[in-house]
Amino acid sequence: MSVLVALTYSCGKSPITVHSPSGNISVSFIIAKGKALYAVSYNKMEVIKPSSFNFIFQNAQPLGENLRLDSIATRSFNNRWEMPWGDQHWVNNTHNELKVFISERSEPYRRFNITFRVFDDGLGFRYEFPEQPTMDSVIILAENTRFNLTGNHTCWWQPGDWDIYEHLYRKTPLAKIDAVNSKSKNHLAQTYIPENAVNTPVTMKSSEGIYLCFHEADVNNYAGATLRVDTVNLSLETALVGNDSGIKVRTKTPFNSPWRTIIITDKPGNIITSKLILNLNEPNRVGDVSWFEPMKYVGIWWEMHLGKSTWDMASGKHGATTANAKRYIDFAAKNGIKGLLVEGWNTGWEHWIGFDEREGIFDFVTPYPDYNLSEVVRYAKSKGVSLIMHHETSAAPRTYEQQLDTAYRLMQSLGVHAVKTGYVGTIIPKGEYHQGQWMVNHYRKVVEAAARYHIVVDAHEPFKGTGEWRTYPNVIARENFRGQEFNAWSTDGGNPPEHLTILPFTAQLAGPMDYTPGIFNLKLKPYKPDNQVNSTLAYQLALYVVIYSPIQMVSDLPENYEGHPAFQFIRDVGVDWEQSVVLDAEIGDYIAMAREERNTGRWFVGAITDENPRNLSIRFHFLKPNIKYKATFYIDGDDAHWDKNPTSYRIETREVDNNTVFDLKLAPGGGAAISIIPL
Ligand code: NOJ
Ligand code: CA
Repeated sequence: MSVLVALTYSCGKSPITVHSPSGNISVSFIIAKGKALYAVSYNKMEVIKPSSFNFIFQNAQPLGENLRLDSIATRSFNNRWEMPWGDQHWVNNTHNELKVFISERSEPYRRFNITFRVFDDGLGFRYEFPEQPTMDSVIILAENTRFNLTGNHTCWWQPGDWDIYEHLYRKTPLAKIDAVNSKSKNHLAQTYIPENAVNTPVTMKSSEGIYLCFHEADVNNYAGATLRVDTVNLSLETALVGNDSGIKVRTKTPFNSPWRTIIITDKPGNIITSKLILNLNEPNRVGDVSWFEPMKYVGIWWEMHLGKSTWDMASGKHGATTANAKRYIDFAAKNGIKGLLVEGWNTGWEHWIGFDEREGIFDFVTPYPDYNLSEVVRYAKSKGVSLIMHHETSAAPRTYEQQLDTAYRLMQSLGVHAVKTGYVGTIIPKGEYHQGQWMVNHYRKVVEAAARYHIVVDAHEPFKGTGEWRTYPNVIARENFRGQEFNAWSTDGGNPPEHLTILPFTAQLAGPMDYTPGIFNLKLKPYKPDNQVNSTLAYQLALYVVIYSPIQMVSDLPENYEGHPAFQFIRDVGVDWEQSVVLDAEIGDYIAMAREERNTGRWFVGAITDENPRNLSIRFHFLKPNIKYKATFYIDGDDAHWDKNPTSYRIETREVDNNTVFDLKLAPGGGAAISIIPL
């Protein structure tokens, strides 16, 4: 903390330091020459150099100079909370807190606090503005919170797009980040990448092997933040998403900013299991959500992305027909799959995309004439399958807000408890963006309304998750990344094998991911001769363990699963976990995970690699001692290869216990999945 010490010396005060419970992470704070500075160290090594902040307001002076420390408060916190569903059952929330009370030494004498919470795997801090006479209505034009880094770290980043996260992650040194010119196709007509900034979560690795992941927690009536990159001074600074009027946040005191968060660890696996973001959110406000059960689901969905059928009816190839829905229901029921998503069921799809005027296109209650909604629901129920409604808004959120109660009342009357929403297109009204305050508030309105009707939400084209699934456990999943759909139609070659060896260390920090795994017909024949899924079949199976979501799609067409021996893994694999263990991982190279299903004592292992083949030695030490298990291995065939031979696989069974060590051979772009069932 040398620079901070120097600062201290020059202003004759010492910094205030707060340590994490084990002492491995320390945050120091000081006001020097009227500026507030914080710095962070990990195992005594500086990881964030003294860094400052300021706010720029409309019609008020900037805030950040001429500051005085009035007082401080500290506390230690330690509790454990239960996840109603999740990647683990119980979560420890153990941290130390420092609150600094600050005021301006000159007019307008504004007051605010900064609260730091320091955990053993990172920290969060936020600005808290109390009610006060000289600060009532607030219009924020910029919040510039700096993170001065200690080196030219290797970064896994995607551009700070104001609309969409459907970009491939790139790996470059910080100094080489060129977000504005980073081209990556997505299915919005246009997206807005205004400056050299990256979206969060963004993850980096220092030359000393320390990993830093930057994100934010509890974004609430505020704008999403991207991080502006200073490639010369090697630092980051929050760059809030705004609208075309230049305004970032409109609010009133009292208010808190979101938590600015940094996960810090020397083991990449700890990034995946970190609960820091969740712990910085408020406890459950929805109450009992036992009306939702984690599930696998099939869908009238992939067939549209393949062009086998369409969302609209005019094409003559309508996918959402009563008969087709029943075919999927029969398939789901036969295989113990509990959910069915039907897209293209409601009128409007003839005009949903590529039109400027998109208000009023969808009403979310009127089915196409060849789709008998109540009959589909009745038939599904009789077979133990429940429907996932689909509400594509075509990025016209005002239309959706007007319809919310009507749409959710219909779902309630049918006993349908889940909806997948979508926001394809640029936001109407023009000038608003998916990640701005206006949309943050829209997504929240939807979640709160849904909770009132006992509905869970899976949002596509969403605002990234910031841990609100703790507060609103009816937020079950989202698509804040390039999903499987890109493999069906993208013209840039689809998602490379390494894509999913990066997402768990980046996008997954935003919460459960609706990636939609499980494609068996990897070459997409005969529908898409020019596209393919870039992985082996065993890799697709492994994704059910590697990715976390309480809803996992069984995405391929039923005909591609019928009679397929490897489908047994998808039938068996759990979706709700007692605990999750990262066995081995390196970002962008490979991941091996094990998860224990709740209430059954069954374990599932998933391992994937990038385009390089790999041998991973898997220790089964996570199993309960003195119990024998039957393990079924779904592994790449000797000649498997993501491009040349993706469907080559083998199934082997053997008895294992907690002393077993097994060498997994992963093919290029390959994987392995293991189900482990107590004998
Ligand atoms: C984009 C979503 O990501 C995809 O899953 C959906 O099928 C289409 N929009 C249509 O809503
Ligand atoms: Ca999408």
